[in-house]
Amino acid sequence: MTSIETTNDVVDELYERHLEPARSRYTRGRGFEAGANEVASDEFLLRFLIEFCSLGVQMTEPVDRWIRGAGTRCCALGFDDLGSALIRHAEHEAGHHEMLIADTHRLCAAWNSEGRPPLDADALVNRPPSAGVQAYIDLHESTIESAEPWGQLAIEYEIELLSVTSGPVLIANVARVCGPDRVADLSFLEDHIEIDAGHTVFNRRQLAQQLSAHPEMAPGLVSAGAAALDAHALFLDDCLDGALPR
Ligand SMILES: [Fe+2]
Ligand SMILES: [Fe+2]
Repeated sequence: MTSIETTNDVVDELYERHLEPARSRYTRGRGFEAGANEVASDEFLLRFLIEFCSLGVQMTEPVDRWIRGAGTRCCALGFDDLGSALIRHAEHEAGHHEMLIADTHRLCAAWNSEGRPPLDADALVNRPPSAGVQAYIDLHESTIESAEPWGQLAIEYEIELLSVTSGPVLIANVARVCGPDRVADLSFLEDHIEIDAGHTVFNRRQLAQQLSAHPEMAPGLVSAGAAALDAHALFLDDCLDGALPR
């Protein structure tokens, strides 16, 4: 058996297996199901996407700082390899919230062009965080400050994996329900389906290295990864609630 197979087995055994309940909870969440619902109306889905992009800004703008902060804390605790890998990854996340701001503006323009009560893209982007967004922010901040800042690696792995697994499901539904013009408005989602495939390989390699050398990290990584999925599911619930007619 090669060392790569051995380390991948370690990830399967110590990490992946334990994430299954949280991953299936995520895809059964009411927010995710609403976005993936093939019989949704195009108006609902457009409004859902406006919530997704505008609320998503506050979860994306700090990512560079969060990963860098966790990396710096890992270095301070003596985990230099992981710390510098996280700091390298941070550079690849800077500025991605700009895509969500641009997407919010395009989607609001589409919404406003059809005679509905108008939506103000800037006001939506700048509103206070929803409960799910706040839970997501709090999870990052508390992980960085905790005795196990490497939990950030599991958070990043789960969230970037969503781009590869759930992102295409959402995009396919938007294409089916709303048509290709609406898909073209979703630069953040479209870009991340592509770039996060590479980031996911990078994250899994880091998980393999850390879990091989430090199997005692497993429980902290599992709980951080599961908490990230639960917080992201709450954010999708908020997107659904914001999209429902009132
Ligand atoms: Fe990103
Ligand atoms: Fe990424």
